[in-house]
Amino acid sequence: MRARGSADFVEAFAFPLTITVICELLGVPLEDRPRFRTMTQAFFNPPAQGGMERIRENLERFQGYLEGFIELRRQQPQEDLVTALLAVEEQGDRLTTQELLSMVYLLLVAGHETTVHLLSNGMLELLRHPDQLQRLRADRSLVPSAVEELLRYCGPLELSMARFAVEDFELYGQPIKAHEVVRLDYLAANRDPEQFPEPNRLDVTRSPNKHVAFGQGIHFCLGAPLARLEAGIAFDLLMERLPHVRLAVPPEQLQWRTSAQVRGVTSLPLSFEP
Ligand code: HEM
Repeated sequence: MRARGSADFVEAFAFPLTITVICELLGVPLEDRPRFRTMTQAFFNPPAQGGMERIRENLERFQGYLEGFIELRRQQPQEDLVTALLAVEEQGDRLTTQELLSMVYLLLVAGHETTVHLLSNGMLELLRHPDQLQRLRADRSLVPSAVEELLRYCGPLELSMARFAVEDFELYGQPIKAHEVVRLDYLAANRDPEQFPEPNRLDVTRSPNKHVAFGQGIHFCLGAPLARLEAGIAFDLLMERLPHVRLAVPPEQLQWRTSAQVRGVTSLPLSFEP
C-alpha cells in the first residue's frame, strides 16, 4: 500500500486484513478466498435496485458455498475453527449442519465489517486529530488505550440487535409497551457526559474508559479479544510505517455508509508521500 504512494485505506488495508484473518480462523482455503470475498461483498453492499432478489440469490449461493466447505472439513479435518466446531460434542450431542452454518455465518457477519470500520473510522479520526496522532506516534505503548478510545469515539456499530420489552414500562418519559422492539444506541451511550468527562474529545490516554462499543451482558461481543488484537497490531504498524500519512481528500468529501446499524466511510483515500 505504502509503495503506491496513495491508496484507499478501506480497499487496500482494512478489508483485506480483516477478511484474511477471519478466513484463516475459519480455515477457508486460500484458493477460495477471492470467490468468498466477492460473495460477502455482494451481500454487504447490496445493489440499490432489485435489491431483495439479488440479496436472496447471493445468500443462497453463499449458503451453498458454506455447506460445501463444512462438508469438505467433515471429510478432511484441518487445524481450524470449522473443524473444531465439527468436533464439538456436548452430552453426546453434535452441532447440526444448520447450527454450524448459522455459527460460521454469524462469525463472518458480526466479525468482519465491524473491524473494517474500526480501522477506517479510527484512522480517519486520528488524521482529524493530529495532536492525538502525534502523541500515539511518539509513544506506541499508548496503542491499547488508543484502540479503546477509538472504539468509544468512533466505534463501528451504532445500534444493538433487537431487544423486546417483556412488560410495559416508561423510560425518560417514553412509554414502551410489552413486546415492542427496543434497540440500544452504543455510540450515544459512549458519549454520555456522566460517564466520560469531555465526551466529545478524542483522548488516546483516556482512563478509565468503560465504553460499551462491544455491548454488555450475555451478548457481549464474542470477537472482542480478536478485534482488539487486530486493531492493536494494525495501528502499531501503521504508526511505524506511515510516517507521512494524510487524508488525500477534504473530510467533507468522504462518503459514509447509509446503514443505520454500521457507521463507517465507504472509502478513505490516503496519501503517504512526505
Ligand atoms: C471492532 C469490532 C467489533 C465490534 C465493535 C463489535 C461489536 C459487537 C456488539 C456491540 C455486539 C453485541 C450486539 C448486541 O448485543 O445486540 C457484538 C456481538 C457479537 N460479536 Fe462483535 N464486534 C466486533 C468484532 C467482532 C469479531 C471480530 C467477531 C468474531 C470473530 C465478532 C463476533 C460477535 C458475535 C458472535 C456476537 C454475538 C454474541 C452473542 O449474541 O452472544 N465481533 N459485537
